[in-house]
Amino acid sequence: MFIAGLLPFILLIINALIDRLGANPIDTIIRDTGQWTLLFLILTLCVRPLSQLMDWYQLRFNLRRMLGLYAFFYGSLHFLSYFGFEHFFDWADMLDDILTRPALAIGLIAFVLMVPLAITSNRIIKKRLGGRRWKRLHKLIYLIAIGGVLHFWLLVEAKADVFMPLIYAIILSGLFLVRYPPVMTWLKKNVTFSK
Ligand code: HEM
Repeated sequence: MFIAGLLPFILLIINALIDRLGANPIDTIIRDTGQWTLLFLILTLCVRPLSQLMDWYQLRFNLRRMLGLYAFFYGSLHFLSYFGFEHFFDWADMLDDILTRPALAIGLIAFVLMVPLAITSNRIIKKRLGGRRWKRLHKLIYLIAIGGVLHFWLLVEAKADVFMPLIYAIILSGLFLVRYPPVMTWLKKNVTFSK
């Protein structure tokens, strides 16, 4: 999983080195890293229902942390490439842009909310925080995922192509639905999985 998670990054570097990022490399980098951030967020949210369906609880702790950290890794690359390539690390210039584009403001809020989750993913900090507080804090992932999909939706809305954000919104709704205990109980009765 660790190597698989790094592959998109390695491919991006290779494509940059051999000049295969298309006519607008900066756009490609920002878009690709945005896509990977959202995908890893969704994958992180898949772990809990899957581990419940498979009665495989060890999967939850090991995999969820790694996928969540990859979401943060790609989110950081996404933000830094926007901040660096489009605004040359000029805070005032970036804020001007963000304040006039709600889609970017939502993206920024989602990214900022990822920071405490990444910090507290460390086992020692998790222990210090206590299980209940940690769980409550990590519920922020739902808000982050909604923010990510909304950010994507608003960005592509102007181009009248909301197909992909719509797919993400449907998947996200499904992932919320399976968190409702009666739905999970029904699934456990009717869906069989083997490890
Ligand atoms: C959880 C946080 C975030 C997620 C999940 C996310 C996800 C995405 C996705 C899926 C795209 C569309 C890629 C495409 O068109 O194929 C995108 C584009 C973009 N994002 Fe984000 N993003 C996040 C945070 C941010 C932040 C913090 C910023 C900067 C403040 C930002 C700036 C942009 C920009 C400039 C684009 C390209 C827009 C365009 O094509 O005109 N994003 N993002």
